[in-house]
Amino acid sequence: MSDTAVAQPPKTKKDPSRRMSDAARATSDLIVSPDVYAHMDQLDAAFLKLRAEDPVAWCEPEAFRPFWAVTKHADIMEISRQNKLFTNGEREMLSYESAEERVYAQTGGPHLLKTLVQLDDPMHYKLRHLTQDWFMPHKVKTREEAIRTIAKEFVDRMEDMGGECDFQQEIALHYPLRVIMQILGVPVEDEPMMLKLTQEIFGAQDPDLMRDKSLSEGGDADKGLSSIQETLAQFFMYFTNITQDRRANPKDDVSTVIANGAVDGEPIGQLEAMSYYIIVAAAGHDTTSASTGGGVLGMLNNPAQLKKMMDDPKGMSRTAVDEAIRWTTPVKHFMRTAQDDYELRGRNILKGESLLLCYPSGNRDEEVFDDPFEFRVDRSPNKIISFGHGGHMCLGMHLARLEMQAIYEELFSRVKSIELAGEPSFIRANFVGGPKSIPVRYKF
Ligand code: HEM
Repeated sequence: MSDTAVAQPPKTKKDPSRRMSDAARATSDLIVSPDVYAHMDQLDAAFLKLRAEDPVAWCEPEAFRPFWAVTKHADIMEISRQNKLFTNGEREMLSYESAEERVYAQTGGPHLLKTLVQLDDPMHYKLRHLTQDWFMPHKVKTREEAIRTIAKEFVDRMEDMGGECDFQQEIALHYPLRVIMQILGVPVEDEPMMLKLTQEIFGAQDPDLMRDKSLSEGGDADKGLSSIQETLAQFFMYFTNITQDRRANPKDDVSTVIANGAVDGEPIGQLEAMSYYIIVAAAGHDTTSASTGGGVLGMLNNPAQLKKMMDDPKGMSRTAVDEAIRWTTPVKHFMRTAQDDYELRGRNILKGESLLLCYPSGNRDEEVFDDPFEFRVDRSPNKIISFGHGGHMCLGMHLARLEMQAIYEELFSRVKSIELAGEPSFIRANFVGGPKSIPVRYKF
C-alpha cells in the first residue's frame, strides 16, 4: 500500500445479481439489530423463518457489509470445523460498515486487538496453547473447592439481603467475575473497574452499559470507535502493570503465563499479551453471568422445571447447566470468511464472502432438539452449539460449566422458595448478551 492510500475493508458490497430471498429480506435487518436481541421472541421468529425457508441466506442488512446467515446446527458445525477454509482473521464479528472503515483507516487492518478469536493458525494455535492447560478439565478440577467457596459466599450474600434482590445485577453478574479474576490474579478491589470495562466492550450497543451514553441512538462511527479505544487504553494501562509485576514476581495464575509467554522462543508482543488478558477477562465473565441468570429465569418461568431442580439440585445440576447455556446462548454469533468457493446446502459461497454463525438459531434447530422452545432442566442429550466448534471452540467451557454447577447446587439446595418479583429485562447487544435484570423474591 502506498503512504497516501487509506486501507479499506474488503469489498463485499451489496450484490444486485444475488437477490435476497423473501425470508432474508424479511429478517436480515432483524438478526443484526441489537434491540431485537433484547426480545428473544422476535429473534426466535426471525430464525425460525430462515431455518424453514432459507437456511443459508444471503443477507444485505442496512449499514452492514453483506454475509451468509448460517442458521442450521449441522451447517454451523460444518463451517466451524474447517478452520483453514473458513477463517476468523478478516471479520470475526458483526460491526457497522462505517466502524469497519474507521478501524481500517486507523490500523491498516480489520482489528484494534489481536485476540484468539481474531487470529488464525499457526499463530492462533500457538497462542491458545500457552494457556490451554489452565482451562482443561484436570486443571479446572483443582480449582473446584475455591469455586465452590465463592459460590457459597454469593448465596450467603443473597440470604443476607433478606428475601428480595435483583438476581442478575447482584449475584449472577459478580460471581463469574470473582472466579475469572481469581484465575487471572486480579485483586478483589479492582473487580468493579474490570466489570465496567468488560461490559463496555461487550455491551457496547446497550445504552445502559456503553461508555458514551450519547451513542445510544447509534450511527456515529468515529465516536463509537474512540469510546472503545478509551476502554482499551484503560485495560492496557492496568495489564501493563500486571505484566511487569508477574515478570518480577511469578505467581500461580494465568497472568503469569501470559506475562512470561513465548512463541517460537520469542516473548509474545505487547499487543498479543494485552489482547490475551482482555479476551480472558471479558470472555470469561459476561458469557457465564448471562447464562447463570438466563437459566434461573428459565426455571422461574417454568415452575415444574424449578421444582425438579429444587427436588434434586446435585442430580440435576449438570443437565440444567447445559440447558441454561442452550436457552440463553450468551454468544450470539461469530463470523468466518471463506478462503475458497464452497457449496453449502446448495448455495454457492464465493471466496472472500463472510458467514454469520447464528448460534441462537442452531440451539433451537428442530432437527436436533426435541421441543426446542421448551426449557427442560433434564434435557439429555443436549447438543448445544453455544460454545462453538472446531479449533476456536470455547477455551473456558469446562470452567463455565463447573462454575454454574457450583452456584446452582448451592442455591437450589438452600433456597426454600423463589419467584419473580417484577419484569426481567435483557441486554441490547447482537454479540454477547442475556438478562440485564431479574427481580426475585425468595425464602431461605
Ligand atoms: C471462545 C462461548 C465462557 C474464554 C468462545 C466461542 C464461543 C464461546 C461461542 C467461539 C467459538 C468458536 O468460534 O467456535 C462461551 C460461552 C460461555 C463461555 C457460551 C459461558 C457459558 C468462557 C469462559 C472463558 C472463555 C469462562 C474463560 C477463560 C474463551 C476464549 C475463547 C472463547 C479465550 C477464544 C478461543 C479461541 O479462539 O481459540 N467462547 N464462552 N469463555 N472463549 Fe468462551
